[in-house]
Amino acid sequence: MTTLVAAEAASPQHDGQPNVRLATPADDSFVEDLQAIAFGPGRFARTAFRVRERFPIDPGLSLIAEVDGTPCGSVWMTPISVGGMKGYLLGPLATHPNFRKRGAGKLLAREVSKLALSRGEGHFVLLVGDQDYYCPLGWEITTPGNIEFPGPVDTSRVLLLAEDKSLAKSLKGAIAAFDAGQ
Ligand SMILES: CC(C)(COP(=O)(O)OP(=O)(O)OC[C@H]1O[C@@H](n2cnc3c(N)ncnc32)[C@H](O)[C@@H]1OP(=O)(O)O)[C@@H](O)C(=O)NCCC(=O)NCCS
Repeated sequence: MTTLVAAEAASPQHDGQPNVRLATPADDSFVEDLQAIAFGPGRFARTAFRVRERFPIDPGLSLIAEVDGTPCGSVWMTPISVGGMKGYLLGPLATHPNFRKRGAGKLLAREVSKLALSRGEGHFVLLVGDQDYYCPLGWEITTPGNIEFPGPVDTSRVLLLAEDKSLAKSLKGAIAAFDAGQ
């Protein structure tokens, strides 16, 4: 049983540990405020933001982390395709500064990826982020320049999680709509 399913089945934990649940429309203002705190006004200029402008996030893959019933973190996923293969772009991932270093960020990244890939439609979870944070969770460095974003990106931060361990090196193409992939 995943932590997400366990979290839904159980009453809220009160042990100071983060758990995750699906986001609802009632979380919208929390998420908006959190992203403003975590990324500042520059967030709208980020290349990953441009991807999300073109292709909508999937609300069914929007998770909230809570500690003792208080929302403290959020993650979104955008269904995309690259080179004709379906997958997901993870982000933004953010934890409120008052709740950092309790494992909420890594729990959100793991659980949203597990949930997305368990649908059996997409084959990878792509993101732009720090290797030191994501590689211990299973993300791998991609071949620089292979994956084309709609804007400038630091290629050393383009990371991919997939069951097929050759995919990080071989996936190639422009980011396109989910429906354009197989
Ligand atoms: C990055 C972020 C989501 C981490 O959230 P969190 O809930 O504190 O994460 P966790 O508790 O799961 O992990 C914390 C650990 O990761 C480390 N860490 C945090 N950010 C890191 C980074 N960018 N690179 C490497 N390690 C990082 C912390 O130092 C901590 O290490 P420790 O466990 O040895 O003390 C949070 O700091 C945040 O919202 N930052 C601003 C937005 C952002 O940068 N998002 C990521 C975009 S890719």
